[in-house]
Amino acid sequence: MLSEIKTLAQTLAPRLIEIRRHLHAHPELSGEEYQTAAYVAGVLSSCGLHVKEAVGKTGVVGELTGQGTDRRTLAIRTDMDALPIHERSQLDFASRIPGIMHACGHDVHTTLGLGTAMVLSQLTESLPGTIRFLFQPAEEIAQGARWMVEDGAIESVDAILGVHVFPSIPARHIGIRHGALTAAADDLEIIIQGESGHGARPHQAIDAIWIAAQVITSLQQAISRTQNPLHPIVLTIGKIEGGRAPNVIADLVKMVGTVRSLHPDSHASLPEWIENIVSSVCQTYGAKYQVNYRRGVPSVQNDPDLTKILEAASREAWGSDLVRIIPEPSLGAEDFSVYLEHAPGCMFRLGVGYTDKENYPLHNPLFEVDEAAIMTGVVTLAYTAYKYWNY
Ligand code: NI
Repeated sequence: MLSEIKTLAQTLAPRLIEIRRHLHAHPELSGEEYQTAAYVAGVLSSCGLHVKEAVGKTGVVGELTGQGTDRRTLAIRTDMDALPIHERSQLDFASRIPGIMHACGHDVHTTLGLGTAMVLSQLTESLPGTIRFLFQPAEEIAQGARWMVEDGAIESVDAILGVHVFPSIPARHIGIRHGALTAAADDLEIIIQGESGHGARPHQAIDAIWIAAQVITSLQQAISRTQNPLHPIVLTIGKIEGGRAPNVIADLVKMVGTVRSLHPDSHASLPEWIENIVSSVCQTYGAKYQVNYRRGVPSVQNDPDLTKILEAASREAWGSDLVRIIPEPSLGAEDFSVYLEHAPGCMFRLGVGYTDKENYPLHNPLFEVDEAAIMTGVVTLAYTAYKYWNY
């Protein structure tokens, strides 16, 4: 089966590069992927998949049922949205839309989903179960996965695979992580209400700026003294505003930040833990406060069994030299984790780095990918899917 998949992917390679370049030249922002979705639906229909559009606003679902008797459904999720970045590459298929660019490789992801659908649609006789392709919108604003789930895209799915390109891994390589891949990311807003007064008479006022400084310091110190050091937490206050004049004590400070964590126990305890610290500092100095903690996305925790299947398929397909086991998780976030609240899954990294020229990071206006990775990604997804039913 591996050699059949490889031959089909090889034959499709020029068409897949054409698809990827078309998508790259026509990027659309999160939640506005109308043309991308129509294009995806067209390709899926032409391969004979059962297609549903407008799932999760601008998402697309394509389903392919094999001729076997295994009733399990495997999903493959790829995302479709681009970023508000003005492309600066000199590529002849560079973005034609000023200020919008596929700088996170979601054009490649979409192509991988389509390529895998094209390959497997020619192998339905050997396909034991059902495969469902989820083309998700709005990953960059961490909303699309929830929209898809709310619209039933994950219903009756038994396992789900995901992929993200990675420029620091060379093309033709696969990066696999056992356990946690990315962090949970939540939003934090803290408002401190003091009392205004003359800058020369602090004892007659309640200085919200000074109390905000105490709150930030206490939060950072408390992480190192009251949280398990083996369960990493990063709390970043990214914006702070307050005050009016050099000689007026500020009565109001508002700050916002992001909270990243890897362990589910720490993640669960964070809102109460933060509120306790803010409350004790504010009470000590007589300020009022408000803490608004908004859950973002959970941590991507790769399923042990599915990760083993992916690793076995990758080693068989590419040899162990091209398979990298990723030693550390990232504190970045990825809304693939939202599907994992409903089904076990595994997300891997696809190397897209050049070995003979400079690589730019994701979200950079000069980001480029080595397109050799498309063939690697399609074969890895298709063969892992096949192995899922035959493991
Ligand atoms: Ni991305």
